[in-house]
Amino acid sequence: MNRSGHRIRIAGSEVEFACDGGDTLLRAAQRAGLGFPYECNVGSCGNCRFELAEGEVDTAWPQAPAWTDKDRQRRRHLGCQSRPTADCTIKLRLDDHYAPVHRPRRGAAVLESRRTVTHDIAEFRFVLDVAQEFEPGQYALAWLPGVAGPRAWSMSNTAAGADAGKAWEFQVRRVPGGQGSAALFDALRPGDGIVVDGPYGMAWLRREAPRDIVCLAGGSGLAPMISIARGAMVEPRLAGRHLHFVYGGRTAADLCGQDMLRALPGWGERLSYHGFVSAPPPGGAALPPGVGTGFVHEAARQLLGERLRAMEVYFAGPPAMATAVQRMLLDAGVPPGQQHFDQFY
Ligand SMILES: Cc1cc2nc3c(=O)[nH]c(=O)nc-3n(C[C@H](O)[C@H](O)[C@H](O)COP(=O)(O)OP(=O)(O)OC[C@H]3O[C@@H](n4cnc5c(N)ncnc54)[C@H](O)[C@@H]3O)c2cc1C
Ligand code: FES
Repeated sequence: MNRSGHRIRIAGSEVEFACDGGDTLLRAAQRAGLGFPYECNVGSCGNCRFELAEGEVDTAWPQAPAWTDKDRQRRRHLGCQSRPTADCTIKLRLDDHYAPVHRPRRGAAVLESRRTVTHDIAEFRFVLDVAQEFEPGQYALAWLPGVAGPRAWSMSNTAAGADAGKAWEFQVRRVPGGQGSAALFDALRPGDGIVVDGPYGMAWLRREAPRDIVCLAGGSGLAPMISIARGAMVEPRLAGRHLHFVYGGRTAADLCGQDMLRALPGWGERLSYHGFVSAPPPGGAALPPGVGTGFVHEAARQLLGERLRAMEVYFAGPPAMATAVQRMLLDAGVPPGQQHFDQFY
């Protein structure tokens, strides 16, 4: 492998970028400021698919769910999994929508502290070797010792204030049988180092959008929505805008986030929290005050009704929740340009 890198040319254009030996085509293009389409960065969505016209690539994770037999037959590859082993020409349509707000950087990060959020979610605070800006709502890739491939985790803090991009906080759910979350929860100790790469993602806070905001989160979708709320409540251009935060869990033990929002300016005036559980307590037991029953998408529709159409909507959570929210937003007539999410896998 040529460690100094390879030249990647986009067929039918003047565009060329460098990709170093260990990098993937998608991430190298993003580092060069190019709008290489993507979403998950971990081989699951297929949005980064391209055709290899000339050259050779090696595939980091050949079992990536989005890389099909048909792709292999047609010399189509996933940008997030492809590392060049020669200079390449690729067929792909760049799209400015995907151009990075902040060019991602790969670097070292040390675990500083850990805090319990719920019975299965904890917050992990990492300090980076070099400060790296990100927008509220974006995510990073993390490589953990002994775990194959990176994991995508969203930042829950912002790059403003004292952290100034030097600290990135992740709120991660322990997934039963999951290797990345097990390594993070069980093996990593304060002072231990990992490699991180970011920021990535398109579901970042639109500071210029003159609309009230709704954040819809379920389970592990907490982090990016907390980050959006933290960014929005101190953004002068959004002063006077209301933010409705709707969080859904299976039971009352899953509900979280309210304490983090209470600490923000505007709490109780233009910032409100609505918790919902999908499984009512057994035997008709009472729910904590202010907690309703139902799914996040239903709750949002009931709470906000016709007003949703005029709001900026951010959402994150398990795939089933995200799909239900998308359907609800379509039905409610929310314009696609006002909907922001990066699908979790
Ligand atoms: C954009 C985005 C943002 C996310 N934000 C959060 C968040 O803020 N909090 C949170 O808890 N979760 C988040 N997730 C989910 C998270 O990335 C993990 O899927 C989840 O933590 C489970 O990981 P695991 O390692 O425990 O489970 P595993 O089952 O071990 O791994 C799950 C994921 O890892 C990848 N993977 C598995 N094996 C390999 C391999 N051999 N090579 C390469 N990749 C592999 C796949 O993408 C798979 O979906 C996010 C996901 C995405 C796509
Ligand atoms: S499969 Fe590559 S970005 Fe999702």
